[in-house]
Amino acid sequence: MNQIQSYISEHKSRFLNELIELLKTPSISADSAFKNDVLKTAETVKTSLENAGCSKVEICETAGYPIVYGEKIIDKNLPTILVYGHYDVQPPDPIELWDSPPFEPVIKPTDKHPDGAIFARGACDDKGQMYMHVKAMEFMTATNQLPCNVKFMIEGEEEVGSANLATFVKNNHDKLKNDVILISDTGMIANDVPSITTGLRGLSYVEVELTGPNRDLHSGLYGGAVANPINVLTKMIASLHDENNRITIPGFYDKVEELSQAERKEMAKAPFSLESYQKALDIEAVYGEKGYSTNERNSIRPTLDVNGIWGGYIGEGAKTVIPSKAYAKISMRLVPHQDWEEITQRFKTHFESIAPKGVNIKVNPHHGGQGYVTPIDSIGYQAASKAYKEAFGKTPIPQRSGGSIPIVALFEKELKSKTILMGFGLDSDAIHSPNENFGVWNYLKGIETIPLFYKYYAELFK
Ligand code: BES
Ligand code: MN
Ligand code: MN
Repeated sequence: MNQIQSYISEHKSRFLNELIELLKTPSISADSAFKNDVLKTAETVKTSLENAGCSKVEICETAGYPIVYGEKIIDKNLPTILVYGHYDVQPPDPIELWDSPPFEPVIKPTDKHPDGAIFARGACDDKGQMYMHVKAMEFMTATNQLPCNVKFMIEGEEEVGSANLATFVKNNHDKLKNDVILISDTGMIANDVPSITTGLRGLSYVEVELTGPNRDLHSGLYGGAVANPINVLTKMIASLHDENNRITIPGFYDKVEELSQAERKEMAKAPFSLESYQKALDIEAVYGEKGYSTNERNSIRPTLDVNGIWGGYIGEGAKTVIPSKAYAKISMRLVPHQDWEEITQRFKTHFESIAPKGVNIKVNPHHGGQGYVTPIDSIGYQAASKAYKEAFGKTPIPQRSGGSIPIVALFEKELKSKTILMGFGLDSDAIHSPNENFGVWNYLKGIETIPLFYKYYAELFK
């Protein structure tokens, strides 16, 4: 056992208990009813950074939830690593589908996590993964082997679009100056197939509101003679994909980066079983854009999905009614070179143009962000690769993810540094879903791998 491994085994139960405490506070940024819990969580994170050996820790107020900033600057000639994470979580709904309450963490073994997994909202996304960095920092300061300067920036609005963090970053270039950004808020292929995320998709999120008649109508008296907003909206939405499942918005694919056959071949080498994928989701077949594999569809190809749709009568029994309004929330995942604001505009123009006479359409953009790709020849990637090699005994596979962390592209634009995405979650951890969980093994492995990144980064930086 090396020093970090023995430190972890000595402090394992405390590391777990501290995370469990952090997970008990429902820091749901989307729901203002939880405001005090979100603020309380920021304080807990602040205290944890102080205890981990940061010399300056502060709560930075924003127009929304605060950003917790901490640093330890040991030598101006050493490189500086900026760690980013988020302490806010997604709403736990639908709560009745949880096997145990989302904010009462329990540890139970699962198929993927025979040593146990911590079940709670935020266990993996992102409290558990963020806290690995706090504990790795504790190890490095407690044993006097911090090899770099460190800055922590932990925000409370990632799950709602990071709008205030963007302002904070733009206004604090000097404070946040760094050589590399390190984030654990993604996943890896499997515990015995380590991977490093090299890409994130961009995002455009819109809400549409369609209005027909000025009031709900009797569907017998008026049915057939006026446009039913739900009929019309669903027809419009259905027309957004063609028979090959390609998106029909004019210009949507104009800037999409097309990968070379060689790159696609390289991607296809990552281990993947279609059968277990389908089985895990209880589906008989996968579905998507013609000409692309499942792993391509969910990472290097853009998408358009309805996230929610409502209107009319949904109570018990039947009510014969033509509703006055229909609504939908629609997200588009974007790939490198697609600009989210341009795509949002293209969606709006197209959606308005296909609305028939007799209805009124409103498109309200929510939030969005650009995609991101990080090169694998940077010293940051090389240091991460060496760290995984040492901790896992295997060279990690570079892999693009389908998820989004919109602020990463903004970091590069404003702070001019690359981000390394060292995620330790699994797809089966059910982030954003009921029964979110994070493997105890993954949590501890993350704490073990992070100090190795610091060590190799400092070495390669020289
Ligand atoms: N941590 C996730 C993103 C993620 C998860 C990326 C797994 C790659 C692998 C993040 O918290 C998240 O949920 N992002 C949102 C976008 C955000 C603007 C709400 C997403 O991807 O839907
Ligand atoms: Mn996250
Ligand atoms: Mn999330």
